[in-house]
Amino acid sequence: MTVEAFAPAKINLTLHVTGQRADGYHLLDSLVIFVDAGDRLRLSPADDLTLRVTGPRAEGVPCDGRNLVLKAAMLFGCERGAAITLDKHLPAAAGIGGGSSDAAAALRGLAELWNLPLPDPAAVLSLGADVPVCLRPRALRMQGVGETITEGPRLPERMGLLLVNPGVEVSTPAVFKALTCKTNAPMPHPPGWSSAAVMAHWLAEQRNDLETPARRQAPVIREVLDVIAATEGCLLSRMSGSGATCFGIYDSRDEAEDAARLIAAGAPQWWVQAASPYSAA
Ligand code: C5P
Repeated sequence: MTVEAFAPAKINLTLHVTGQRADGYHLLDSLVIFVDAGDRLRLSPADDLTLRVTGPRAEGVPCDGRNLVLKAAMLFGCERGAAITLDKHLPAAAGIGGGSSDAAAALRGLAELWNLPLPDPAAVLSLGADVPVCLRPRALRMQGVGETITEGPRLPERMGLLLVNPGVEVSTPAVFKALTCKTNAPMPHPPGWSSAAVMAHWLAEQRNDLETPARRQAPVIREVLDVIAATEGCLLSRMSGSGATCFGIYDSRDEAEDAARLIAAGAPQWWVQAASPYSAA
């Protein structure tokens, strides 16, 4: 039996930093969605636990114990084997939860392969603050440092998304450290939206508090935001997570595809991806 698990990219539509815990971790209030672009895991029964990394974004991704996929496997606390292939499509250290989503997909896949329950929530959180939210990908509100997860709003039936990464890796700890204000206002309750335009209008009132410190670390983020905002039909452009990936919201997937083609032609070295929201069944 081979199990397949999809690890979708995560987008922080908003990311408000509302405080800091005594251990240094920051309290967040973030509206998270997932898209139909991501990494793919294949997990097969085997005597030993092994990881092979393939795909267009495999270069530089460790396939040893540093990889979150193998750290996730260790949480099951048993000496079982599995041959895992991680087909990598998402850029690393990019603010779209690549490693976290891979870890969450590995947890789902191994639980199915080994017929075991998922590890307890504290263990899942120990893999990374974004791993719990990636466990059942859909529109979610994430609070605390990432452990408090509630249902997000209904997304518009029709909308398009564009993801653009300029190829600059951003250090998440450095971005958090450079925050000048750590007690920003939380996000108001997200209401659910009838159209992408209404959604973008609501989101425009909210923020990603990490955008300013991330732009100081990687000034190209400003350029990415401007390039997205200048495409036809773009309703909102914003950075995701701690960057450097930025996203655009459009009324339709077709408009996002047109914008993707235009940006990819002008900046062939950038990672450019049109997408639609993804929700696990
Ligand atoms: O949990 P994760 O390994 O993804 O976080 C990477 C780093 O980002 C942490 O070591 C911490 O410096 C910072 N971080 C934070 N507050 C959060 C999440 C991450 O300060 N809620």
